[in-house]
Amino acid sequence: MVHSGMPSFSRLLALSALVISLVISSTSAIVPPGQQGAFNQSITQPSDGPMTDANLIVQTAGEVNQKSGAPDDEAPDADIPPTSVTAIDGVLMSSTVADVTGSTSSHRRRPRHYFGRLDRRQSGFEEIFAGLPADQHDAAIEGTAYLTYTLVPNSTYNIDACLAWAATIDGCVFVNLYYEFNNYLLDFVFSEESNLKCVAYADIHDASEKTNFGGQASYPQAGGYILSSVDNNTVPLTYITQSSGWGLQSLIDPADPDGYSLVFGPTGGANNAAGYMGFALIDKYDVNACAQLCNGRGIDPVGGGCAYFNIWRAVVDGNPTTYTCAMYYLVTDESTAVNTGQGSLVVTYSRGYKRISVLPDGGFEGYTACDDFCFTTSDGTWIGTSPSDGDQDATIFFFPPYAYTGHSVGLLGAAFGDDSLLGTLSPAVPLATKAGVSYSIQCFINTAFSGSTLEASANVDITWNSATVGSFSGFSDWQFVQATATGTGSDTLAFVGSPAPAWAFIDNCFVYQA
Ligand SMILES: *[C@@H]1O[C@H](CO)[C@@H](O)[C@H](O)[C@H]1NC(C)=O
Ligand SMILES: *[C@@H]1O[C@H](CO)[C@@H](O)[C@H](O)[C@H]1NC(C)=O
Ligand SMILES: *[C@@H]1O[C@H](CO)[C@@H](O)[C@H](O)[C@H]1NC(C)=O
Repeated sequence: MVHSGMPSFSRLLALSALVISLVISSTSAIVPPGQQGAFNQSITQPSDGPMTDANLIVQTAGEVNQKSGAPDDEAPDADIPPTSVTAIDGVLMSSTVADVTGSTSSHRRRPRHYFGRLDRRQSGFEEIFAGLPADQHDAAIEGTAYLTYTLVPNSTYNIDACLAWAATIDGCVFVNLYYEFNNYLLDFVFSEESNLKCVAYADIHDASEKTNFGGQASYPQAGGYILSSVDNNTVPLTYITQSSGWGLQSLIDPADPDGYSLVFGPTGGANNAAGYMGFALIDKYDVNACAQLCNGRGIDPVGGGCAYFNIWRAVVDGNPTTYTCAMYYLVTDESTAVNTGQGSLVVTYSRGYKRISVLPDGGFEGYTACDDFCFTTSDGTWIGTSPSDGDQDATIFFFPPYAYTGHSVGLLGAAFGDDSLLGTLSPAVPLATKAGVSYSIQCFINTAFSGSTLEASANVDITWNSATVGSFSGFSDWQFVQATATGTGSDTLAFVGSPAPAWAFIDNCFVYQA
């Protein structure tokens, strides 16, 4: 650099000596990471965090009422409402998944078949229970996961029309077919002119759930123009006959939700595991709804984002009652799926799903070149680069005391503290993203190594195809950091920082579909 008032060479020497002595005096206590120095202060050592609160889940499952059937006063062929959330963390509610998560993407994903493909279902329906003889009053199903109903021509007991319609209803695995008498809307209003109701459900029900015997006053009250023939001006009450049930023998295997992969299931065991973030009850067995709840769950300050969910169906006294999504920031598997239920509640169709990170080895745990202390500028998965004058400004350490979890960790800032240039840690290959999809980049960063004064100038930029999408600066114990970016199909992620002795450690990084 050439300045007009350039200092003399001797003055420059004196100045640099002064700078060096200042640096040495203020950092004399600091042994750099490259020499296995210690943190200036004690730092967070995360525990495994809370365990599944099975008692609260079971208690809440006993409080929700998700059982229904075709309403007396609703027109046929109503749209199927989006999956609804009936409780979160023990608090009852009635909300859509989108409202709970503040997400707009759920609508985009709605058309997915949440139970799998239609063609597997079309021919598979069998009679699960028969209706009572035509001259006896019967009852309609009140069960979970009611979807919608239609009216089929009632010239015969038209199971064929009912099953053909069911095959067009996304998620339908069971229908209840019955006649409903004395329903004014069926008899005089709806254009179908039929009282034969075909009712679709996304779960399989049995005859023990025939609890709707009718008994509603549907016809207009006394004095009505239509009732001249009704003695005493009393209205006839609705009643039901020939209520039969047709469905699959078991629920269809769902396709994996976007951004997740199946870890285990279906089994009869719910996870009892660490890193538990809470639970939601939803109104049908909808793995996509659980995935969206996990994506939108928010952040645990110690554990970070939701990384895993366990969906299962609660059967109480033999009948489906509700559907649980339990969420975790730690990934678990079938080995912890040990909770088979309690009391009259039985766990069924339990599946675990792991959130897919497109970032390989975001915890640097693949670096195992030693078993006590070592470091490198590249381990094959990650590459650390320094500016041309720099020396090991981005490195990967094997040393459990430096890691947030596990044994290895990334370091930004000259490992020996011999320059204050910014290093770059980047995956060796671009991330295999989906074009146009939004990603959440999540990491833990620690800038506490050399104490609050020296670390005040710590700075880490998160870049995506060289554009800065997030940054972190200043002194901090392990801290969750998040940024979002849009995939192009092949994206270069990098962490850039931090001027030694304001070192920055990074660990437990994930790049999730948002
Ligand atoms: C068919 O439904 C219509 C409308 O409810 C009803 O008036 C008629 O009696 C029904 N026919 C049979 C055979 O149940
Ligand atoms: C009219 O109602 C009364 C009381 O409910 C009942 O005793 C009587 O039999 C009814 N009459 C007719 C014709 O239905
Ligand atoms: C830690 O850092 C603070 C502030 O920079 C400093 O005053 C203190 O001496 C340091 N302690 C140790 C043990 O290095």
